[in-house]
Amino acid sequence: MSTLALFGGEKSVTVDAGAVASLPVCRQKGIDVVNRLMRTGEISQSSVTSDFAQHFASYIGSTYALCTNNGTSAIDSALFALSVAPGDEVIVPSYTFWASVTPIIAQHAVPVFCDVDRETFCIDPKKIEKCITNKTKAIIVVHVWGNMCDMESIMSIARKHGIKVLEDCSHAHGASYRGKKAGLWGDVGCYSLQGTKTLPGGEGGVLVTDSRECYERAAALGHYELIQTFADNSPYKKYALTGMGHKYRIHPFAAALADSQLEHLDEVNEVREKNARRFDEGLHDIPFLKKQCEYEGSHRVFSYHYYRYVPAKEKVKEPFAFLKALHAEGVACGYCGYGRLHNAPLFTEGGPYGDCKGTRAVLPVTDELAHTTFLAAPRFETSCHSLVEQYIAAYRKVSDHIEEVIEYSQDHSFDEELNSLSGRSIAQL
Ligand SMILES: Cc1ncc(COP(=O)(O)O)c(C=O)c1O
Repeated sequence: MSTLALFGGEKSVTVDAGAVASLPVCRQKGIDVVNRLMRTGEISQSSVTSDFAQHFASYIGSTYALCTNNGTSAIDSALFALSVAPGDEVIVPSYTFWASVTPIIAQHAVPVFCDVDRETFCIDPKKIEKCITNKTKAIIVVHVWGNMCDMESIMSIARKHGIKVLEDCSHAHGASYRGKKAGLWGDVGCYSLQGTKTLPGGEGGVLVTDSRECYERAAALGHYELIQTFADNSPYKKYALTGMGHKYRIHPFAAALADSQLEHLDEVNEVREKNARRFDEGLHDIPFLKKQCEYEGSHRVFSYHYYRYVPAKEKVKEPFAFLKALHAEGVACGYCGYGRLHNAPLFTEGGPYGDCKGTRAVLPVTDELAHTTFLAAPRFETSCHSLVEQYIAAYRKVSDHIEEVIEYSQDHSFDEELNSLSGRSIAQL
């Protein structure tokens, strides 16, 4: 059996993923439009923004799309749009990026953390009902890593209890469930266009909805310039002079860059998926590696490719030694940073306004996933067959040596290496 690269053997991966498997963040068309905007001076407001909003709405199939300066402000606007008021409770997973949760605090509302499903990593519909009280106003679901939540079950619970649903689609550009795109199932959907997302604009976001009321409330919060376009009988028209406290409009450069990526999104998603499915197939019989499962009828996108590490030896729960051995083989992989928000001081001690402490949550599956999930591979965005095969070979090699890796992990501490082993730093989240 060949020697692990960790112990001086040859590396399995010799092809540079950064060089062969990634696409330029800015398309030429986007660069040309940004250059034109600089020449014409449209560096704050431009028809490029409204054009992009229309293109995005038609891609998703929503009646309205509102572009924002980031995904976080889209979520903030969406909570306001759903009339989440101070003291209201909002159910949300902890296995997510902080921005799925912090806007709840910004609206002076209370996050109620709900556990996720071990196989799909998405909010567990079976556990949602236990979180509902007479103060519950909304549920935020996150299509985490591009994997669609069980929207049919979630919507039926929400409708039964008269609760609104906000979909955080920041990882799910192009994903769908029973033929309907992410963001269309709930009352409102929020996308991020941040520079590392699969529809990158630099910094930006989009809120989608079919509800005129929801759109107007969201726009009234952070887009004073749109209020004047509302009908005279709109209850928000009177705020045209002042807006409602925030300024959330997108930079036209970001809209232009994202717009130029939109027409390629499906085609690139297809390539990503083909590579990812081949990778999954190559690893399917490794007993301690579990891929992220999908709900029936859903079509995920592979914006991020995470796995669960479940070795038989109870003592070795953390995948650090395994990841270190893979790194040595030339694999870009890293441990997960998600699943820790319910223990963060902002939520356990209360927010800056002192009125919105999260409820103390016991989330056994989230705690487990925080330790066991890891970024397995970078985005393979081109038809890079030989690279994918090298990745599979690296995983199989390290897995064949798993007993050595476990032994190594028992007499090593990884404190100093944790940053370089982080999926977040690798995926630049
Ligand atoms: C799940 C999730 N929600 C929300 C956001 C916030 O988006 P933005 O960074 O554009 O504010 C992100 C971005 O990283 C995210 O990953």
